[in-house]
Amino acid sequence: MTRIVAIGMSNTDLVCRTPRLPRAGETVAGSDFSTFAGGKGANQAVAAARAESLVSFYGATGDDAHGEARRSDLQSDGIDIGALQVIHGTVSGIALIIVDDTGENQIVTVSGANGLVDPQEALLSLEMLGYDLVLMTWELSPETVLEIYRGLPETVPVVVNVAPFDESIHRVFPDHRLIIVCNEIEASQLLGREVTVDNAAVAARDIAQLGCKAAVITLGGAGAVGATSSMEWHVPAPEVEVVDTTGAGDTFCGVFAAWLAPGESLESAITAGVHAGSLATTIRGAQPSIPHRAEIDASLNSASKS
Ligand code: RIB
Repeated sequence: MTRIVAIGMSNTDLVCRTPRLPRAGETVAGSDFSTFAGGKGANQAVAAARAESLVSFYGATGDDAHGEARRSDLQSDGIDIGALQVIHGTVSGIALIIVDDTGENQIVTVSGANGLVDPQEALLSLEMLGYDLVLMTWELSPETVLEIYRGLPETVPVVVNVAPFDESIHRVFPDHRLIIVCNEIEASQLLGREVTVDNAAVAARDIAQLGCKAAVITLGGAGAVGATSSMEWHVPAPEVEVVDTTGAGDTFCGVFAAWLAPGESLESAITAGVHAGSLATTIRGAQPSIPHRAEIDASLNSASKS
């Protein structure tokens, strides 16, 4: 079985629901408050594990109660956290999240221990793990992820989720082992022009031509497009009732990686990611909403029959 290493943040998400997202300086009454497991890197690790990949997660937590809870959540999903750093005397990562009635969100993260990941220590720990694919977000500090990225073995495919966008991402190109995943906003930032559903296929091709193996742009309810320098795919999303979009992009990335690692085609990996990401929008919270393999397969089967 293939193994994926996911690198990124692990957070505790403190989530309020409001009818609509507040404007700057505005107070809006919320309807409820919940605490969920989150963090883009940890969410992606969970998505890959629930899609039945072997997964190791690399990042850091503090030695507080939130950190202990997050480590235990990852383990209950069967994720290897042997290399995860526990940084004593430090708080674990937190995300403050507001979700409105349409399921859209605003997120502020406070990295805590996540911000103390040491790139050289990370590379030493990763050397001890055998893995077939690396899955990274840009959520740890840009200098840290860039240094880890540059120290990875040349032979292993790397899926980089450009979230959140930072200019430093330009420094990963050109690289033949690299697959880029971003949403429309991140694609716009990366290309320096507005990317919409209508021009996303051209944008994906343009990102691929920056010098990587392939690029995928996720488009929410419109599915996703993927491109290499010579081919393009558009995968529509199944219709679902959206409750909360938090973690849907992470679910896409984890499942996409879980399909790619054993050698499935880019098109089938994008399709599985789109179905899993759509399922994730139907349930509240980041990690609680991530589907298991059987649910993804059922969604794929029902789409292939219609
Ligand atoms: O992508 C969603 C995630 O972003 C949340 O779980 C939050 O923790 C932030 O990292």
